[in-house]
Amino acid sequence: SLQRTIYSSLRPPPFPTNSALWPKLARQAVPAPNFGYVHDSAGTGSTCLANVDAFNQYRLKPRMLVDATHRDLSVTLFGQTYASPLLVAPVGVQEIMHTDAEIATAEACRNVKVPMILSTAATRTIEEVASASGDGDRWYQLYWPRSEYEDVTASLLGRAKREGYKVLVVTLDTFTIGWRPVDLDTSYLPFLWGQGCAVGFSDPVFQRRVEEELGRDERGVGEKLREVRDLLLRPGTPWGALKVLRNLRVMQRSQMWLSVMNSGTYRKWEDLRVLRELWGDGPIVLKGIQTVEDAQRAVEFGMDGIIVSNHGGRQLNGAIASLDALRDVCADETVKRSGLTVLFDSGVRTGVDVLKAMCLGAKGVLIGRPYMYGLAMGGQSGVEHVLNCLLAEVDNSLGQMGKRSVKDLSRGDLEMRKQQA
Ligand code: FNR
Repeated sequence: SLQRTIYSSLRPPPFPTNSALWPKLARQAVPAPNFGYVHDSAGTGSTCLANVDAFNQYRLKPRMLVDATHRDLSVTLFGQTYASPLLVAPVGVQEIMHTDAEIATAEACRNVKVPMILSTAATRTIEEVASASGDGDRWYQLYWPRSEYEDVTASLLGRAKREGYKVLVVTLDTFTIGWRPVDLDTSYLPFLWGQGCAVGFSDPVFQRRVEEELGRDERGVGEKLREVRDLLLRPGTPWGALKVLRNLRVMQRSQMWLSVMNSGTYRKWEDLRVLRELWGDGPIVLKGIQTVEDAQRAVEFGMDGIIVSNHGGRQLNGAIASLDALRDVCADETVKRSGLTVLFDSGVRTGVDVLKAMCLGAKGVLIGRPYMYGLAMGGQSGVEHVLNCLLAEVDNSLGQMGKRSVKDLSRGDLEMRKQQA
């Protein structure tokens, strides 16, 4: 039926199926700084490019005369069966792409049966997104506050659990935001991250903490916010007063206040014990793992899974391509024996990319920027289009490979390209 939605329509699809065109359409749909924040990456962008380019190092080896008429895209993660290996990566501040923001994404995910991972830095609350997601699968991503705010972490995780988010994803690579020249040159979000835009706190425990601290310390969050606002409203701000006001409203609705608490503060492996206590028996997945050593540590500290990811090249520029990290992590004997569930993101742009990552050992694959372009292109229907294209291409290409199930993919189905002399 996936194939049919794409191939049997007499009308051309509402948006292009060529994923290379999605960023072009998104660029036309939103203000330049908003697009830049999503599209661009850290430093010279070399890691972001390497992520995408890494897929070209590998070529698939299709088999012929195999009956792959009926194909099965389903995977089992942490004891639950999902319709496909695709997941929607946690992406913050979605309102900068479309006014329907995370609600549109949640509805699209429910419709196409792709789990949504909700970001801590969302512009809609945990409860609002849960309600839009309905009977769809949802996971929760935590930007982990400093240890002084363990009560806030407990509150967030309690709310997520109550609202039916099944898996906890803890992002480890963003205790400090990366060096992102495009955002810095438009004085866009990093400024707000750095200063800490704490207006939008919606968590009751956090609100209580802020009130307590404001009472004690005049140079608390309130003061920081006033500084941010004064700077933003200063005449001559590059992209105009209206846009500033619009973005300020976005920030006010957002939960980016959490970065106030964790900016520059690194937690330690032993601290994961606290999250285990707060989250209980539910699966915990560490996002941002890039080395065999850290994958082994995740096993040692009793984690259920990891996401091999470099945040789409938005954090440490110069870091290795995420796909190369995946290859090494999945080849490691300790990791293999442990039964750790290895998921993957960074650089996936097509259905074929999904298959290549699975050949290297990923059990599930997250999509970041592409669905944000979809959101800018057409809100819920744009996100749905992007996910449907990826799913249909996975399905189609699996058949072209002569495979009946994504579970049958293995390293032997890939060949590494010979190095050019
Ligand atoms: C992200 N990412 C991210 N990750 C996370 O754990 N929490 C977050 O709030 C965000 N926010 C965010 C915003 C934007 C605009 C982007 C592009 C990315 C990282 C995201 O989950 C994922 O790791 C990357 O997007 C994957 O790379 P690709 O698919 O964009 O190449």
